[in-house]
Amino acid sequence: MSQMWPNPEAYFREFLPKRDQLLHDLEQEARREGIPIVGPVVGELLFILARVTGAVQVLELGTAIGYSAIYLARGCEPAGGRIITLEMDKAMAARAQGNLAKAGLSPRVEVRPGEALQLMAGLTGPFDFIFMDIDKESYSPALPHCHRLLKIGGLLVTDNVAFAGAAAFNREIFASEDWRTVHLLGFLPNHSPEHDGLSLAVRVK
Ligand SMILES: C[S@@+](CC[C@H](N)C(=O)[O-])C[C@H]1O[C@@H](n2cnc3c(N)ncnc32)[C@H](O)[C@@H]1O
Repeated sequence: MSQMWPNPEAYFREFLPKRDQLLHDLEQEARREGIPIVGPVVGELLFILARVTGAVQVLELGTAIGYSAIYLARGCEPAGGRIITLEMDKAMAARAQGNLAKAGLSPRVEVRPGEALQLMAGLTGPFDFIFMDIDKESYSPALPHCHRLLKIGGLLVTDNVAFAGAAAFNREIFASEDWRTVHLLGFLPNHSPEHDGLSLAVRVK
């Protein structure tokens, strides 16, 4: 009879996706300074989702030092994808710009400093893909903006949905007929935190 590994978490740590020196350096920087980033597993997932959806217009909410934006931009590179990423901390936004320049991605990634809900109100879209990773209490008020800005058939990926602050968002998107949504609770090595939830939702109406 086939058996599960007795310690699947240790086992799955062996499968951290490979990444370049810049991403390793950013992980170290984030760890040193306590900056929450998605880490290599969710980063790779973003890369894969951006690649398979053929996303061209991508919106990210919550840039921090630009780690996840690098994965998104690399994922949508063959499609000629462009990212707009929103960050309310001006110093963080400037650091992200520097890191994106180091990655050679400045021409395709625009970091906009400012509060995400305010900046979204001024955007028109349509976007093919939105990645949401801001303060969790803003997820619910951001949801109508995500709906307005995302094309029908577009993908909304939301990080940290196991946080209590995401409860209203989880309820609303789960109940809405505008979305088909799956909530995944997982072990995500090097993610902040390592046990957390992600939601994937496609706009259907
Ligand atoms: C979890 S970090 C983002 C990590 C990044 N996505 C990554 O994985 O590399 C959240 C970032 O969103 C920013 N932020 C939080 N609430 C925000 C809001 N309402 N509008 C804009 N930025 C926000 C914070 O300053 C922080 O840098």
